[in-house]
This record gives sequence, structure tokens and C-alpha cells, in this order.
Amino acid sequence: MCGIIGYIGPKDAVPYLIEGLRRMEYRGYDSAGVAVWTDDALEVRRAAGKIAKLEAALVASPLSGTVGIGHTRWATHGPPTERNAHPHLSADGTIAVVHNGIIENSTALKAALQDLGYEFRSDTDTEVIAHLVQELFDGSLEEAVINALRKIEGTYGLAVVSSKDRDKIVAARKGSPLLIGVGEGETFLASDPSAILAHTRQVVYLNDGDVAVIERDKYKVIDIDAMPQPRTVDRINWDLAAIERGGYAHFMLKEIFEQPTTIENTMRGRLILEDGTAKLGGINLSHEQLLNIDNIIITACGTSWHSALIGEMMIEELARIPVEVEYASEFRYKNPIVTERTLCIVMSQSGETADTLAAMREAKRRGARTLGLVNVVGSTIAREDDGGVYLHAGPEIGVASTKAFTSQVVALALFTLKLARKRELSVARGREFAQALAALPGQIKTVLDTASVIEAIAEEFKRASNFLYLGRGFNFPAALEGALKLKEISYIHAEGYPAAEMKHGPIALIDEMMPVVFIAPHDAVFDKVVSNVQEVKARNGKTIVITSRDEPSLKGLVDYEIRIPETADMLMPILASVPLQLLAYYIAVKRGSNVDQPRNLAKSVTVE
Ligand code: M6R
Repeated sequence: MCGIIGYIGPKDAVPYLIEGLRRMEYRGYDSAGVAVWTDDALEVRRAAGKIAKLEAALVASPLSGTVGIGHTRWATHGPPTERNAHPHLSADGTIAVVHNGIIENSTALKAALQDLGYEFRSDTDTEVIAHLVQELFDGSLEEAVINALRKIEGTYGLAVVSSKDRDKIVAARKGSPLLIGVGEGETFLASDPSAILAHTRQVVYLNDGDVAVIERDKYKVIDIDAMPQPRTVDRINWDLAAIERGGYAHFMLKEIFEQPTTIENTMRGRLILEDGTAKLGGINLSHEQLLNIDNIIITACGTSWHSALIGEMMIEELARIPVEVEYASEFRYKNPIVTERTLCIVMSQSGETADTLAAMREAKRRGARTLGLVNVVGSTIAREDDGGVYLHAGPEIGVASTKAFTSQVVALALFTLKLARKRELSVARGREFAQALAALPGQIKTVLDTASVIEAIAEEFKRASNFLYLGRGFNFPAALEGALKLKEISYIHAEGYPAAEMKHGPIALIDEMMPVVFIAPHDAVFDKVVSNVQEVKARNGKTIVITSRDEPSLKGLVDYEIRIPETADMLMPILASVPLQLLAYYIAVKRGSNVDQPRNLAKSVTVE
């Protein structure tokens, strides 16, 4: 979603701002802008559409100065036009603001400001902040911002500059991430570390309630009562290469092909083959606490929710603890049964998804212990949970989640193994499962070697209007995930169903135009799935079958076959999801979609 960048230092801010905005493009946006103090005035350039348009505006009307802020906007209040793009200027042009989040009382604030004579030039909620800071300004920008924050309700990550208190950027965070980048004689502000990684690895993550005053060679963090808030300087420990395409046509393709390594990284130092268990240092759960868990709730959104469904089945199967999977957006508005013996597992690639974060806070409020399975180090969920397991999949830039999904399932498998071995799983079964996990990276390489077969299938179906994805047991969530991947990047309508549910409705859709993807490895429900393949073939549907063996029972039923290796039933969705990712990717590319930045989507959904 929206991105914020700020620079203050000895050099021209504009190239830093544009580079930072480009690094955050993957998050999804529909307009962009910068504000720079040019020694004469605070000047703003904005453009609807991609950053290239903003660059063209800067070529037509150049800007230069050593203090600046920039923004990519994902429209909420008002369409993605130039007038709604950030930064927004105050009425007198002395204050510029960029803002992520939503000001919930903007209507009331706007009316009050209009009564004072302020004229509004945009449809945004953000513009009220600019006028409010102007109204409250009395010589100190931080005081004016703090006084404005006292009147604001809602969520924000914001950055403010002023031509009346020039050599600083004032930032504030409540519900929307922000960090300070500490450079040599220069300081950065960003909502995403990738925006500044090329210039510094030293970062200070802001907490909710923090106000930061950033100057060229120093910064301070205070709260709304101006009390100092000591914050540590962390080091970003991934490389620039991790956020670059490295020869691949798209980030998504790169991330699909990274999976042997990312899965290895998720398991590194954690899998103990000999004892058939896992070591997870960060979960902060004692032996007694693990034994005393009565029930588990896993909460998440989107792809993370699909991984949670697989986790549910693994935990119930091996650790014999009842598990419920809840959409985070629903969980927070229900009246869930949570006790002190409930463990709430929170799944999120970004660690910033607003609904997931709110669900975690709600679970905590009701007394549950929380365990975050998160990819982005230092993200809000990772900092607020009671314990955590980082995925270590590295930055995921493609909006369609791929490597984070497989790492999530692996992380859930590791947690299951640990939990189950504490309870009733035997060493022998634990070892078997651990060995199956250890074999996954090599097996994924084998699946990736079939990419050209999948590309050829994509060629056949690139013009389809609908797709059905069917699987049973552990592969039902894989079917949901396959359908989500296809629809989000190719815009083809796709549904995932438990294979046997097809005859209760979706079967009406089957005809010679309907491709049906079956996930049918040789597992406990294989024969049942074969019956469902027969039902589709009997109605002339086109079958694409992902399977793991030459099975006589499939003869004559399969139009297109994709072969994957065999593994434990529980881990099959990991292997099956790789061809599903590739199928979605190649179809989307052949249809000319913007694979890494699909329309309307954002990488991290920080609004409810
Ligand atoms: O960062 P999160 O895992 O919390 O994000 C959750 C969803 O927004 C995300 O998985 C979304 O569904 C992706 N676009 C899926 O590819």
C-alpha cells in the first residue's frame, strides 16, 4: 500500500526520494509525489499513475533541495488523481504532509477547519493534517504536529516538513509502520526498509505513539507528551540483491525459483533429525506451556490464511490439539472463545496487515498467548507478539505471495513437530516427518525443472475465462491457493474447492471450455480424487492433473499431467503449490498482465 520516504542531508534529496519510491513500487500504488524545501519555498510535484509520470513532471519542472519527503499513494479517500496525490500542502503553503493510514474523524476536522476559512483542494483525509498543523504552528514544527495528533483519530504513519522550521522532518506513527535510517551525516525516513537499504543498514523502528524529529546528523524519538522514548538501532541483515530482480523477468519468477533456498533457510538450525523434533528459540513457550495448550486459533488473511488451513490439519493430526482457523477480519468482530490456555498463531508475510494485527491484539486482550509466524523482521506483528518464528524467506517483492507461502507451511510444520513431540508423537514418527521436511528443498528443485512443461500448458489455457482448482485433505488449501494465485495476477476467474464438493454445485459449470486443475498426488485420498477426475471427464471438462506416480487409474482421464515427487501427505501441498504458482505466472505473462504489481492489489494491506 502507500509508501513514505524522507531525506535530510547534505545532498540533493530528489534522487533519494525517487529511488526510495521506486523501491517501494512493489507495495502497490496509483499516484506519487514529492515535496522539497528549495531554499525559496516548499515545492511539490505530484502525478497520477506510475513513478515515471512523477519523474516526467520533475523533468518538466525540476526541484532541488536537501530536505524532502515523498509518497506513493494507494487510493482510499478519493480517486487516484494528481490533486489527491500526496504530499498535501497547508493553505499558506508552509507545511507539507505525506500520510499512510486513515484519519477517521477527518469529516469533523474538515468542517471545523472550513469554519476557520480553510479551503480544501483534495478529497483526501490527509489534507486536514496539513491545515491543522498550519493552524497550530507556533514556531516549532514538532509541537504543532504533536498538538495536531492530539486532535486526530485513526491510524497514521506520517511525515511533515515546513518552510518555517526548515531543517527537520517530523514523523509520527500509530498503526502504520515507519523507520528512521541512520546514515553518515544524513538521515532517512521510510515506511519500508527496502526504500533506504542502498544507503544505510542502520535503522530505528518506530513504535505506535512515537513522534520522531529527524535532522541531518541526529534524530530524537519522543511521545505525544514530548517524553524521550529510547529506541535501539537495528541492522538490516539482507542484501540489496534480495530486492533486485537478478536477471529474472519478474520478481515473482525469481521468488518461485528461490524456494529451494528459502525453505532451507526456514529450516536452518531448527530441524533436529536425530530426535525427530524442531528447535524454535523465539517461541517463548516453556515445556509446561506447550503441554498446557487447550486449543489453538490461527488467524491470517489471503495466502497466509491458506497456509493456516494446512497448519490446522498438521497440528490436529500430529499434536492432537483442536485448531480453528479464522480470517483475521472476521475474528476481530466475533466473540471468540479464548482462554489463557489458548494459543493464537498469527500468520503474516508482511507482519503489517491491519486486520491480522488487530486480530492479534484482540486475542491478547482476551488473554491468549500469541505466536507470530512472520517474514518481515522488525514488523509490527513481530514486535508485538509474545513469541515468534521468523520465516527467513527474505524480502518478498512480488505482490503475489509465493516463497512466503511455502515457508509459512514449513514453519508451521516445524512448530507442529515441536509441539507434537512434547505431547504424543513418537520419536520414530517425528524422525520420519523431519526427514521428509529435510528432503523438500531438493524435491522443489525437481519440480522447478518441469517449468517448461507448465509453460506449455499455460499456452493452451491462456485464453480461458474460468478455472476450477480441486483437491482433498491437505491439498484442498493448495487448491484455494492455486486459484488465488491465478485470479490475482491473470484476472481470470478461478475457484478452489474440496474435490468432492464439486458435485454439490460447481459441477454445473463443467463443459469443454472449463479447465479443472486437480491436485491428486498418491496420498490417502488419491482414489477418491480419481473419482472426481472421472466426473469432470464425463462432462468433457479439460483436466490438468498434478500427480506423483504413473497411476493406471488415471489413464485416459488426464489431458495434461504435471509430475511432482512424493513426500509425507502433510507436506504435499508445498510441492503441489510450486507448479500452481508457475501455471498462474506463465498464464499471466502470456496475457500481458503486470505480474509483480497486479491491478488494485497492494503488497501489505495496512487498512481494514
Ligand atoms: O502480509 P500478509 O501475509 O499478512 O498478507 C496477507 C494477504 O494480504 C496476502 O497473502 C495476499 O492475499 C497476497 N496478495 C496473496 O498473494
